[in-house]
Amino acid sequence: MVLSLAVSLVWFSAAGVISQRDSFVFNGFEPANLSLNGASLVRSNGALQLTNSSLNLIGHSFYHRPLSFRSDTSFSTTFVFAIVPPVPGQGGHGLAFTIAPSPLLPGAQIGQWLGLLNSTTDGNSSNHVFAVEFDTVQGQNGDIDSNHVGIDINSLVSNASESAAYYSGDNQKQAIILDDAVPIQAWVGYRAREKRIDVTIAPFRVDKPHRPLISHTLDLSSVLLPSMYVGFSSATMKLGSAHYILGWSFSLNGEARPLDLSRLPSFPRPGAGSKRAETIMIVASLSGTFLLLAVAVILGAYLIRRAKLSETLEDWERDYPHRFSYKDLYLATKGFKDREVLGSGGFGRVYKGNLPGSGAEVAVKRVSHGSKQGVREFIAEVASLGRLRHRNLVQLQGWCKRNDDLLLVYDYMPNGSLDRLIFHEDDDDDEHEMQQQRTVLGWKERYRILQDIAAALLYLHEEWEQVVVHRDVKASNVLLDSEMNGRLGDFGLSRLYEHGSNPRTTHIVGTLGYLAPELTRTYKATTEADVYAYGALMLEVACGRRPVEPKAAVEEMLLVEWVQELYSEGKIADASDQRLNGWYMKEEMEMVLKLGLLCTHPQPQARPSMRHVWQALGGHALLPLEPRFMCEDLEFKNMSTDSSSILMQTPLESSSDSLRPEGGFDTVHSPLPLLDGKGLSA
Ligand SMILES: *[C@@H]1O[C@H](CO)[C@@H](O)[C@H](O)[C@H]1NC(C)=O
Ligand SMILES: *[C@@H]1O[C@H](CO)[C@@H](O)[C@H](O)[C@H]1NC(C)=O
Ligand SMILES: *[C@@H]1O[C@H](CO)[C@@H](O)[C@H](O)[C@H]1NC(C)=O
Ligand SMILES: *[C@@H]1O[C@H](CO)[C@@H](O)[C@H](O)[C@H]1NC(C)=O
Ligand SMILES: *[C@@H]1O[C@H](CO)[C@@H](O)[C@H](O)[C@H]1NC(C)=O
Repeated sequence: MVLSLAVSLVWFSAAGVISQRDSFVFNGFEPANLSLNGASLVRSNGALQLTNSSLNLIGHSFYHRPLSFRSDTSFSTTFVFAIVPPVPGQGGHGLAFTIAPSPLLPGAQIGQWLGLLNSTTDGNSSNHVFAVEFDTVQGQNGDIDSNHVGIDINSLVSNASESAAYYSGDNQKQAIILDDAVPIQAWVGYRAREKRIDVTIAPFRVDKPHRPLISHTLDLSSVLLPSMYVGFSSATMKLGSAHYILGWSFSLNGEARPLDLSRLPSFPRPGAGSKRAETIMIVASLSGTFLLLAVAVILGAYLIRRAKLSETLEDWERDYPHRFSYKDLYLATKGFKDREVLGSGGFGRVYKGNLPGSGAEVAVKRVSHGSKQGVREFIAEVASLGRLRHRNLVQLQGWCKRNDDLLLVYDYMPNGSLDRLIFHEDDDDDEHEMQQQRTVLGWKERYRILQDIAAALLYLHEEWEQVVVHRDVKASNVLLDSEMNGRLGDFGLSRLYEHGSNPRTTHIVGTLGYLAPELTRTYKATTEADVYAYGALMLEVACGRRPVEPKAAVEEMLLVEWVQELYSEGKIADASDQRLNGWYMKEEMEMVLKLGLLCTHPQPQARPSMRHVWQALGGHALLPLEPRFMCEDLEFKNMSTDSSSILMQTPLESSSDSLRPEGGFDTVHSPLPLLDGKGLSA
């Protein structure tokens, strides 16, 4: 260490550059005194490319000689960078402005280590590495999200970090997407006297915001050695982006001189020409005769860019509360990136999002409706459903309409959906994770979740100002919040299809296996049909089997029928989930199975109300729990038809993805005559 220090001092005096006011400006890097290492290179137009979009790369670019720091040395720098993923939303891992003892950073690793450190050296104070990271992947270093700026000292665990954003003139926080293939300017300033570091970013050609994104108190005197290299580091791994620096100004003990933005080089982009900023840079190099054409191009590109994020509101849209702007949702979901998809349901994909400004986590459901019909009525309804409040409902925060897309914003539920917990449908790419999640959801939790959902349905059916029929109660619509409370999601969504449909065609909304038999006759959404679906859910939870098992033997294919069969043979206990290994209260299990049968009674009038179900689950059963009538039903059904022939019947017309062509199943029940409910609905 001492030796190398001595060497650099000698080198310093030979070059005659020891100065307290070292500063340099690169408006493009051709020519420039840089030490390049790894994948980095200077392109022929002067853009510094730290990495291309290939995988597993590291690129370093440092000012060619070390600068001398003292404990009272301040510094200031500004640079323009661009991160260009091959496919929008699939970029990684990021870049970092770096001050380090060596321009080579030996031993550094790819990916989340950004070519700065490795898993052994991370956190060691002998690293003497300071960095400001621009990170586009949420790594395991306690990263807050996949689009953030962080201050790092000797470790990739940031001392301070913020989602990428800037404060506009009116002090509004505006999100910035780092890997959006647009130039972004950054400013980093350290004042030794105040021991404070400020980091600011802004879109290209936006003046430096007055308020920094991060302002953090930090003493760098123990980190910065007398001789340090300043520059940039970047890495890719399983995800790759091209990382560019277009211009860079740096100054010790003084404000960095401004960049001449008009002289900065352009950078290659997939589908170039559709964005304003780059077009402006191209224009700078065009000569007179092309100017007119260029102006047209700018205007066109500007309009395209604006059209991409703008929205034209129809008058009525302003009348409904809870409207989100498309731009906010676009930024929240990082442009509806595949990476942010939480799942896809019958109505469309669901994205995870962080709202710009508050940073609140939300789930954004993108419903592709395909027709403008009925959307207005639906939004009127959504706006009113937004007022539903219950601890067992997934809160609907608002909506946004754009062309044919409808975006619904819900509270984010960190523990996923009930079907995943019961059937372990999680991603099978991680063996280890699978092993951990293989534990069976216990009976106590299952019972409590059933109680929660009963409470939610009771609220919708009886306790709100108007009757709300859910129409799609099923395990995948039961979500678990951070405290594992069951919450019912997606209420009212099915109404969209009803409003949108041609009155002469009829649609059944719902999911096979949860559909009440009378729906095939009446097509009418009723609370009784919700009770039927809830009954199927109860059986599913108690038996650990799906309502429809296409691969099972014919007599076991439909869960409701199978349990009915066992019940009529006096063997209802055999229906319970074998994986529970008997770890449940026999009385509770039996009650849930019997209640499930009552709720799935073929005759709607015979089903209990949600209030009765909720009371029974709470231990205040007012119901006779013996579904005596089942035998009659079963006899009748066996006479009329059997499941195998039903499979051949023509599918029902369906408008919901979740209703598959085998929807014909449900005709099983349709010809049933009315049976006496034996006083159950009293
Ligand atoms: C590169 O460094 C040398 C001396 O170290 C200096 O003479 C030259 O002007 C520098 N070139 C640029 C482009 O900064
Ligand atoms: C990206 O850079 C690496 C390392 O410099 C190089 O091997 C590779 O060929 C480059 N890939 C492309 C597509 O240019
Ligand atoms: C981490 O880097 C150090 C040098 O800085 C090197 O000696 C060590 O082998 C590296 N460890 C790993 C796991 O790459
Ligand atoms: C930190 O790094 C130094 C030098 O590489 C090493 O001697 C020391 O053991 C490391 N400390 C820890 C806690 O790993
Ligand atoms: C913040 O920086 C200090 C060095 O000044 C370091 O010792 C500490 O571990 C860092 N804190 C976090 C949370 O990374």
